[in-house]
Amino acid sequence: MGMLVNFRDWIDARFPLTKMWEEHLSKYYAPKNFNFWYFFGSLALLVLVLQIITGIFLTMNYKPDATQAFASVEYIMRDVDWGWLIRYMHSTGASAFFIVVYLHMFRGLLYGSYKGPRELLWIFGMMIYLALMAEAFFGYLLPWGQMSYWGAQVIISLFGAIPVIGDDLSLWIRGDFVISDVTLNRFFALHVIAVPFVLAILVVVHILALHEVGSNNPDGIEIKKNKDENGIPKDGIPFHPYYSVKDIVGVVVFLMFFSFVMFFVPEGGGYFLESPNFEPADPLKTPEHIAPVWYFTPYYAMLRAVTIDIGPLSAKFLGVIVMGAAVVILFFLPWLDRSPVKSIRYRGPICKTMLALFVVAFITLGWLGTQPPTDTKTMMAQIGTAVYFAFFLLMPIYTKIDSTKPVPDRVTG
Ligand code: HEM
Repeated sequence: MGMLVNFRDWIDARFPLTKMWEEHLSKYYAPKNFNFWYFFGSLALLVLVLQIITGIFLTMNYKPDATQAFASVEYIMRDVDWGWLIRYMHSTGASAFFIVVYLHMFRGLLYGSYKGPRELLWIFGMMIYLALMAEAFFGYLLPWGQMSYWGAQVIISLFGAIPVIGDDLSLWIRGDFVISDVTLNRFFALHVIAVPFVLAILVVVHILALHEVGSNNPDGIEIKKNKDENGIPKDGIPFHPYYSVKDIVGVVVFLMFFSFVMFFVPEGGGYFLESPNFEPADPLKTPEHIAPVWYFTPYYAMLRAVTIDIGPLSAKFLGVIVMGAAVVILFFLPWLDRSPVKSIRYRGPICKTMLALFVVAFITLGWLGTQPPTDTKTMMAQIGTAVYFAFFLLMPIYTKIDSTKPVPDRVTG
């Protein structure tokens, strides 16, 4: 023991180890009333680590070459020791990542966690979300299946819809006139190093921003406003050991769900791995129905909801704008919400109704995005898109006029 203490002191004289441990763990005071919704940040961290580790092992046997990629994935699935497990962890891990992150973001909406002083924390979160979407998009091309190829074809062609620069832009992204080996190589580089690197940095910055302002909580009360004589928030408890241990419960429950999917339904009924992707990419054969993976489908439905040209602007281009705006608008949430209270617990019926409508619209759009379009479904997507945007654009008004309940001084447990 004495030797260990000496070693720690030796390090501390040269590197702020104990200082960092205290600042971020043993003396980081988190509100004592965290609930279920507060598991998803640590779970997102867990999935990120799992994706990086399984990704490293996949890279050891994967070949980023249009003539070998598909076969190398089959080789991983059939011949590499435990390759099937590594691959399924990574492919269902991608869906798990989005499930966890969507729930994590929804918590932010429930408790107004994006509101001041957490605006930057939210913005870093949104940057993570963008990076995550890019990461998933690049990764999906790598197995070089039919959906990899045609999915990428559809998405890159969206850039082609931008007036004037569109054609040159999509040529630049592909690096070729069609999606080819060149595209595969650059997507591989972006997927295995560039984007993960950006993601890791963003996550560090996200947590630094969190620890600067402190966590919000289900009551939306600033615990730093109520400190004891030692300057410790009265409603705070040290992150370690209290939440480090509590988070293990979340991890265990998550791993049970994750294992169930991985071992029993790794394709997630065609939602996690789409069936056309079990056929090698064929540039001469378009699949009957092209749809992105489920986590992109709400936006895909909004893209297809736009069906009319306006003047020189094509419906496709306008759809791209709507789709882009749907993501960008989330960045502005801290300034759109003008409610005097943070948590949904103390908001009035209008805010609650709008949030419920938003959730219904987002899920319905997600389902519509997986379906081949029909007139009825397109109309439903148009309504869903309208509700989605109304939630944000009307927010400055309804959050202002809605009633509120009195917010207590101390957290309610
Ligand atoms: C790789 C992805 C992400 C990781 C690893 C991550 C990690 C974390 C962790 C560990 C926490 C503290 C624990 C918790 O409150 O659950 C947290 C809080 C938070 N995150 Fe994230 N996050 C990620 C993505 C996002 C995204 C996409 C957003 C929103 C766009 C976001 C917004 C927030 C907010 C607002 C908080 C504070 C919530 C509160 O205190 O009520 N995060 N994040």
